[in-house]
Formats: sequence, C-alpha cells, structure tokens
Amino acid sequence: MITPAVETAARTAPLPAYVYDLDHLDGHVAAIAATMRAGPGRVEIHYAAKANPDEGVLATVARHVDGVEVASGGELAHVRRVLGPDVPVAFGGPGKTDEELAAAVRHADRVHVESRHELRRLAAAARAAGVTAQVLLRVNVPGGPGGVLRMGGGPSPFGMDPGEIDACVAELPPEIALVGVHAHLASGLDAADCAAQGRAVLDWAGGFAARHAVALAEVVIGGGMNVDYTRPDEGFDWAAYRAALRLPDRGPTVRIEPGRAITAYSGWYVIDVLDLKRSAGEWFAICRGGTHHLRTPVAKGHDQPFTVLPTGAGPGHAGPVTVVGQLCTPKDVLARRVPVDRIAVGDRVVFALAGAYAWNISHHDFLMHPPPTLLRVGGGADQV
Ligand SMILES: Cc1ncc(COP(=O)(O)O)c(C=O)c1O
Repeated sequence: MITPAVETAARTAPLPAYVYDLDHLDGHVAAIAATMRAGPGRVEIHYAAKANPDEGVLATVARHVDGVEVASGGELAHVRRVLGPDVPVAFGGPGKTDEELAAAVRHADRVHVESRHELRRLAAAARAAGVTAQVLLRVNVPGGPGGVLRMGGGPSPFGMDPGEIDACVAELPPEIALVGVHAHLASGLDAADCAAQGRAVLDWAGGFAARHAVALAEVVIGGGMNVDYTRPDEGFDWAAYRAALRLPDRGPTVRIEPGRAITAYSGWYVIDVLDLKRSAGEWFAICRGGTHHLRTPVAKGHDQPFTVLPTGAGPGHAGPVTVVGQLCTPKDVLARRVPVDRIAVGDRVVFALAGAYAWNISHHDFLMHPPPTLLRVGGGADQV
C-alpha cells in the first residue's frame, strides 16, 4: 500500500505533506497503456488532466499516453507550458468562454463541442484565427449503465441529445472539420459497466455515421474507470475492460480519457496526530491538516484508507478511531470509526489513493492553515 520511497519520505517530511511516487506512477501507466494498446482495434489514451495536473505527474503520465484532455483555458495553458507544443491536447468541458474557444482553436488539437450554440461560436473563433477546428461532437447517449458520478444517460448539462447532434451535422460551418464523436457518461464504473458504456457509445456512433454517411475517424468513449477506496490494493481490471469492449480489427480510433484510475494510486497525503481524545465514547485523532488539503473523502462520501506510522509516544489508543483535521467544521473528517492496532499523539498517518481529485479539488484557503509540502519521489524528480 505504501511504497518504500514513500515510507521514507513520510517518516521525515515536514508535515502536512503530499508525496507522489513517480516510479510507481510510471509503472502503473505503462502497464495500462500496454494492455489498452494490445489489439484488436486501435485504442488511444488521453489523460484527463483534471484528475491531477501536477507537473511531475503530467510529465510522467505523458511518457505513456497519446495525449491529454483539458477542460479549461487554465488547464490548456498549464499543459502546454509543462509538456510543450507537441503533445496532442483535446479541449472539452461545458461553458467554454470566447477566450477559451479562441485559445482552443490555436493551441488544442481537438475540441469537444457541447452544444450547437458552442459549435457556432467555435466556428467564429476558427474563422477569426484563419484555421479549421478539428471537432468531436459530445453526445449524451440515452440510457447507459449508471455509475457513481453520472454525467449523461439522462437529463444533463453535458453534451447533446442525439437529435441535436444530427442538427449540428446538418449545419456544419466550413471552419469545422468533423473528426468524430465524444462521450463521457459516468465515472466510478467497474470494468464490465465501463465497457458496456463504451460499447453503447460505439454502437450509437456506428449508427450515426451510417445515417449521415460520414466517416468518423475517432470515437471517444470517456474515462470513469473506478477506483475502489475500500480496496486500495485492487485496481481497475484493465484487461477485462479491454476484452469486453469487443473492438473489431478495423474501425475508428477509440479513445479513452481516464483520470482517477491513472493517478489515484501514486499519491499519498501524510499528516501527524496533534491530539487524541475520547468524546461520548468515541475516539478522535485530531491531525495537522484536513479536508482543506484532501477533500476526496468528503466529496465522495468514503473513508480515505490510511496506515499509521508509529512515530509518536504516549499511551495511544487501540480500536476504532475517527481521523479528523484542524477545521472548525464537523465535515472535516478523513476517515470514520476505522479500527487501528494503535494510534498515538505524534504518529504519522499516511492516506493512500490521494493522487487524483485530492489536493487540486480541495478548498485550500479555508481557515488559512499552511499548505502541505509537495514531495515527488522517484522518476529522477527533485523535491519541490
Ligand atoms: C469529459 C471527461 N472526461 C474524462 C473524465 C475523467 O473521469 P475519471 O477521472 O473518472 O476517469 C471526466 C471527469 O469528470 C470528464 O468530465
């Protein structure tokens, strides 16, 4: 659960700290890429930068994937700055501003279009820049297997109903090159559900292409591969997912854009116990840090898995403990009533699965506590 390099860093780092193990990440992404690239059919991976845009993480992931998916002008500029002009970037997401559309036509290789109105605005931006925008229309395919974070399959601000996609094709402006269709319907799917969702999108795309007599070069079937926070040592079953997609030898390039299942396993958040007390029969470990650094357990409603490094002294406590942070809110809970062999004041608590939607989705400034130290280990990375 904790790599040796992370354990060494966790024992010595000034706390609170985030530790990213770039060697661990490198091996993990390399294995995913090898599995997904095995035939039949052609699969590309775009990393969803929103999961973790850390520079060391981006540079490590970029060695193994085909490109990066960004969802804002800020992410686009950041990814270009970190990875340079050559890495393929797709710009998606709802509510793009005129400035973002102007940046997208100049600095992104693909644009995922969310509505007819956006398509017209994108065409205007492309015309102003004197370029042709390479477009994938984002479809909200009806139905679908569900998932923890549903973004489609029913009423949704994301993507377009199939009828709207038809209308887009009927009025394609000359500045738009239709490259394919895009879908991301849900996150938190196991391999079978994720593949069923991908198949539904591919089947819909096949019918759409035939109906309009257009050749679709690319179909994006989204991310959403599950990370099981109750089983930190079990990963998403990429081989089962790849097989269940049942891709033919020939067909459009199928692109996936995972985020969480790429980086979650390679990040750890380390804090130490400042106080240990009993309240109305329950034990609480109050730690240096909290959900302003690691909002993931509150956002997703789980206990963040953790290990106690016995670096403290004192009598300690054995049994269920609720691990909380320093914020003046009862919501500042990282893990609730989790049994431990022993926890004491001064112990270091190492939270796993903190490499995705963790630091970057947290409300850093609430109560003005200091930010965590950021450590990158492995990958020839320097401490920052
Ligand atoms: C369009 C799109 N693609 C990919 C992702 C990545 O999803 P996940 O991190 O669950 O793999 C998201 C997440 O919200 C998304 O909105």
